[in-house]
Amino acid sequence: MDVIPGLPQGKALDILQSAPILNFDGQLTGTNDYRETADSEVVIITSGLSRKPGMTRDQLLLANMKIVAEVTRNVVKYSPKCIIIMVTNPLEAMTHLAIQTSKFPRDRVIGLSGVLDAARFSSFIAAELKVSPTDVSACVLGSHGKNMVVIPRLTTVKGTPVTKILPKETIDELVARTIEGGSEIVGLLKTGSAFYAPSAAATRMAEAIILDKKEILPCAAYLQGEYGIKDTVVGVPVKLGRNGIEQIIELELTKEEKQALAISAKGVQELVRAMKSG
Ligand code: LAC
Repeated sequence: MDVIPGLPQGKALDILQSAPILNFDGQLTGTNDYRETADSEVVIITSGLSRKPGMTRDQLLLANMKIVAEVTRNVVKYSPKCIIIMVTNPLEAMTHLAIQTSKFPRDRVIGLSGVLDAARFSSFIAAELKVSPTDVSACVLGSHGKNMVVIPRLTTVKGTPVTKILPKETIDELVARTIEGGSEIVGLLKTGSAFYAPSAAATRMAEAIILDKKEILPCAAYLQGEYGIKDTVVGVPVKLGRNGIEQIIELELTKEEKQALAISAKGVQELVRAMKSG
C-alpha cells in the first residue's frame, strides 16, 4: 500500500515474479486503497520521510507524525484487530503515536529497533572475528538513535561473551559504528535510508507473530513499570507470538546499563512532548 499510484502495484508484480525462482507461493497485491488492506492480521507501517545525509531520525518528527497518525487511523478503520509493526522514524515516538491513535493495547503495537540494531552489531563482530554472523547473539536495547544501549557484556559468540574475545577498543569502535549504523548507510546512499536489513528485521518480527513462534526479540515496547520506566516506548527483549507482545523480558542489568536505558526513555519522552506541542 502506498499513496503513489502505480508504485505498490509495480513493486508487487516485481516481487511476485521472483516467486518461481525463490520458491515461495501466495498472493501479492499492490494498492493505493486502504479498503484492499481490510482484515489484515499484521500491518507494517513504513510510511513517512526518510533521512537525508547529516539528518538525525529525530528531525523527522513533525513531518512523520502527521503521516503516521493518518496511516494508523486508516489501518485501524479497516483492520481493527491487527497487530502493528512500526518502522517509521523517530521510531519510539511513532510507536507511541500509533498506540495513542489506534487505542490498541500495548501488546499490539510494536516498534522495529533492536532486531535491526542487534543485526548490525552482530554483523560487525562477525566480520571482525571472521565467524558466521549467525553465531553472534547481540544484545541491543534502548532507543533507535544516539541513545541506543548496546550491551557487549550480554553479546556472545556461541556462548562466549564478546568482551572475552575482542579488545575493549575494538568493541567500543563497533558499538559506535552500530549506533551510527543507519547514518552510515544514509551517508552512502544520499537519497534514502537502509532497506534490506530493516525489511529483513520487520519480516523476522512478522513471522514470529504470524507463526506464533514465541521468539524473544529486542523490540520497542510501551513500558508500564518494567525496568523502572513508565508510559514510554523503549527497546527491550519481548516474546513475540500470535498475540503480539506476549511477555516483556526483564534482563538483569548493571547500574550503568539501567541508567543508559533511563536516558533512552528520557529522550523518547522529550520527543513525545514535542509532538504534543507540534
Ligand atoms: C535505519 C533506519 C531504518 O536504522 O532507521 O536504517
